[in-house]
Amino acid sequence: MWRATVLTLFPEMFPGPLGVSLAGRALAGGLWGLEARDIRDSATDRHRSVDDTPAGGGPGMVLRADVLAAAIDAATPTPDQPRLVMSPRGRPLTQARVADLARGPGPLIVCGRFEGIDQRVIDARALEEVSIGDYVLSGGEIAAMALIDACVRLLPGVMGKLDSSTEESFSAGLLEYPQYTRPQLFEGRAIPEILTSGDHGKVAAWRQAEAEALTQALRPDLWAATTAKKAPAKGESR
Ligand code: ADE
Repeated sequence: MWRATVLTLFPEMFPGPLGVSLAGRALAGGLWGLEARDIRDSATDRHRSVDDTPAGGGPGMVLRADVLAAAIDAATPTPDQPRLVMSPRGRPLTQARVADLARGPGPLIVCGRFEGIDQRVIDARALEEVSIGDYVLSGGEIAAMALIDACVRLLPGVMGKLDSSTEESFSAGLLEYPQYTRPQLFEGRAIPEILTSGDHGKVAAWRQAEAEALTQALRPDLWAATTAKKAPAKGESR
């Protein structure tokens, strides 16, 4: 079973939103597993302290290398298990990486807090830093939940066939085309006629064109990457 192990100072945050809706039903149904472990359980002094002031000075507190390393070791990650640490400094998470993580045994995820984590534990335990975007959260927990949610919906049996088109669209490097449902007329706005024409070929072509137009307008960066992948310039090696 695919299983996420989360190391956090706030285990009570889990499962949180992962316990409801699609992910929550799948969790209750045994389609995936979640273990939230308290980093503080690996503290050794009588105050159970996990952090200390940064070497070299500066504001805030830093998560201690010895405590976090002990917490990681106590979680007994297997050699094939990805060891991640959520951090705005990490490589930005992509759908391709999510799909890759969903195919594996499920990651061990360290959630940072305070001003950061002692670099030596990142190096010594070969933690891969992963970001969910160029903004700063107050801790890694919400980022870990986002990553887990994105993986869980791809697990076999979690979503059925239904949403596979969204998947294909994004994996193909395009944003999803617009969707409509009843009523036929909403505040004077009608559903595009082609969608009610019953011509599946025309519907598919319209959706493809809309997806391309949306991607060009809203995500020129994604569009450039997608077109570069599809039609490499002459002499480009790929
Ligand atoms: N922790 C704080 N900010 C983060 C971000 N943007 N991505 C991942 N982890 C984080």
